[in-house]
Amino acid sequence: MKICFLMYPWERVTKGDSTLRFIHESVKRGHEVSMVTPERLSIRDSVTMGNCEVFTKNQKVSSSVTSFQQNCEKSFKFLPLAEFDVVFMRANPPLDPFVLNFLDSIKDDVFVMNAVRGLREANNKIYTAAYYDPEQEFIPKTYVSKDVDYLQQIIEESDQEQMIMKPLDGYGGKGVIVIEKSASKNIKSLLDYYVNSSTKDGKSQYAILQEYIEGAENGDVRVFMLHGEPIGALRRVPSKGDVRSNISAGGTTEKYKLSKEEIRVCRKIGEKLVRDGLFFAGLDLIGSKLVEVNVLSPGAITEYNRLNKTKLQIKIIDYLEKTVKARKEALAKNNNIDMNSITID
Ligand SMILES: Nc1ncnc2c1ncn2[C@@H]1O[C@H](COP(=O)(O)OP(=O)(O)O)[C@@H](O)[C@H]1O
Ligand SMILES: [Mg+2]
Repeated sequence: MKICFLMYPWERVTKGDSTLRFIHESVKRGHEVSMVTPERLSIRDSVTMGNCEVFTKNQKVSSSVTSFQQNCEKSFKFLPLAEFDVVFMRANPPLDPFVLNFLDSIKDDVFVMNAVRGLREANNKIYTAAYYDPEQEFIPKTYVSKDVDYLQQIIEESDQEQMIMKPLDGYGGKGVIVIEKSASKNIKSLLDYYVNSSTKDGKSQYAILQEYIEGAENGDVRVFMLHGEPIGALRRVPSKGDVRSNISAGGTTEKYKLSKEEIRVCRKIGEKLVRDGLFFAGLDLIGSKLVEVNVLSPGAITEYNRLNKTKLQIKIIDYLEKTVKARKEALAKNNNIDMNSITID
């Protein structure tokens, strides 16, 4: 298959990078593999193009990812994106919305993972905050607003001593703080800062208040979801004195086996993910409550592999191969692909 990774520059790929595992696995299997950065997308005569770096096909590929990273051969080619079988979105947040417009122009010709519609919908934390959960089973109590007085009232009326506040479009744990009721003199000022002063352009922004989920001190659980199925998980433990479990915020990882209850919740969440075209996602769970759905470029695959002596990328590339085959078969019969026909081994 012809696969293009839409991602950050190769120079920024670190040894432990998850996307590097996907690329390595794809090149090893003999696929036609390219990568392109958002900066290198363009339109030529109404055709969406990428100035892609193409990995030399059938090169001798080391089984070591590090050696592959250092020695792989690639060359620049100006290619129409619609001629790929798969565009695998692996750009880091924050997402440039124009990139989605480029992808809109090819989404009927190429399997874009994740689907543009889903990327657009799940581009910030409103997606999780407003997740359909009529029985209030797995979404923590969450409030999103720009109204400082309203947010202050929520804190005052809460029966919890502490709540979590975070920006709507943060990532990597940025700006996630604990608000303690006892520090009442700071609350208004903090809310005011988050809503009215924290952006560069001086615009107001939405803040999220969320119940503090019991047990968060022991970390959260990152679940890798492929086509609605949990295919692996690990625990992330915050560094001492921090509430954030993100690895980029100093969190460490531990091996973790999902409980039956967590698997049930993940599958329930997975149904909507598949409906929204979010075939590969990372869930952040704390005690069966869903804190966040990461759809842009979920990481920590390498940590998962190390903890479990496995290669999770195999499942993901298997899935892409299967999907491309099913799409080609459907196309030959002039049908639309039925994504429900795809199963995970
Ligand atoms: N409601 C909450 N209760 C307790 N801890 C939380 C809560 N929300 C977030 N956290 C902690 O902060 C981390 C980052 O929050 P998250 O919503 O996932 O934002 P980000 O996009 O920055 O990763 C979580 O992984 C968790 O460790
Ligand atoms: Mg998170």
